[in-house]
Amino acid sequence: MAPIQTTQLNLPPGMIDFGAGRPSPALLPLAPLKKATENRLSRNDVSLLAYGAEQGDGHFRSTLAQFLGKHYQLHVDFDTLLITTGASQGLDLICTLFTRPGDTIFVEEPSYFLALRIFADHGLDIVSLPMDEKGLIIEALEEKLSQHTPAFLYTVPTFHNPSSVTLSAVRREQLVQLSQKHSFLIIADEVYHLLAYTATPPPPLAGYIDTGLVLSLGSFSKIMAPGLRLGWIQAGRKLMNRFIGCGLLDSGGGLNPFTSAVVCSAIELGLQQTQLTTLITTYTERKVALSNALKEYLPDTVRFIEPGGGFFIWLVFPEGVDTEQMRFEARRKNVGYLPGVKFSSGRKLKNCARLSFSYFDVPQLEEGARRLALVIKKHMKGH
Ligand SMILES: Cc1ncc(COP(=O)(O)O)c(C=O)c1O
Repeated sequence: MAPIQTTQLNLPPGMIDFGAGRPSPALLPLAPLKKATENRLSRNDVSLLAYGAEQGDGHFRSTLAQFLGKHYQLHVDFDTLLITTGASQGLDLICTLFTRPGDTIFVEEPSYFLALRIFADHGLDIVSLPMDEKGLIIEALEEKLSQHTPAFLYTVPTFHNPSSVTLSAVRREQLVQLSQKHSFLIIADEVYHLLAYTATPPPPLAGYIDTGLVLSLGSFSKIMAPGLRLGWIQAGRKLMNRFIGCGLLDSGGGLNPFTSAVVCSAIELGLQQTQLTTLITTYTERKVALSNALKEYLPDTVRFIEPGGGFFIWLVFPEGVDTEQMRFEARRKNVGYLPGVKFSSGRKLKNCARLSFSYFDVPQLEEGARRLALVIKKHMKGH
């Protein structure tokens, strides 16, 4: 009989799969969440078991606003926050409310591959925009704006998935100015903003919600636990009203009131902050270990930018290397990664690959880099 599946990822024993862009099980905070749940349930307040307020529980939004304000170093008004069941659900809801099948949207190339899946579910036409080491290239955006009228532009501005680059402060400003000039929405997926290790990112695009053209997505998946299914959308008043009045929230009420209440306690008790500090320490060690191992073992012709935060290292191989093909050889050596084509709306980027350093510990990352280097060297000999 097949084993009963409980989690999304089931790695074969011994496999070091750099494709796993998620926290390791040992980093999932069982004890703090037990404490937070006990704290909340001992209050004899049944509101967390009722249909929730459409925008999300006001106490939670207010606590979250303070937490975010501290980390963003911006004033965050609790009324600009809408609670979601994660950034993926927020993105899906944005597509439902702000697009129709056949609409054009702009994405970065590369882009978060599962956002591309959500856009496909909504029948959207994707136009991709190139990036460099400072993020989205603004001149390329201007050129595409002369040819298309996008419903929105989707960006991961900070510690990008998969490329790890951060959109510069100047380009953030230019992007917002272009959205005002051409009236398109910016969907800023800012789930990695708080996971800064060796670089301090510019202020989040959430700081521009008053333009009425920016929606910022955040999530507890990256700073607490993905299984919570809890996140938020930050929006100005007019856009917020579109969410609050939508059918989904009218029928089911605000999203995830029970978990919101527990996480509210986790923030109030300082447990969220402790968890974030632990994650930053651990991920910093992991990122340094993987970067150093790759520098040591990989051929010089394989390039990557050392990430300042987030989960990922993006490898760029010489033209002609097909990372999708090479993946089979890698699997035989018990090492895995995600090939670049997954992150391209037109199945380009064949010579790229995404590695994540979030799941495995330092010795495993070093061993994985060694295995990967052997596969790469053998594969590249054939070119
Ligand atoms: C850029 C980006 N957005 C969204 C998500 C998914 O977030 P959530 O678990 O909140 O749906 C991820 C997770 O990998 C991600 O990298």
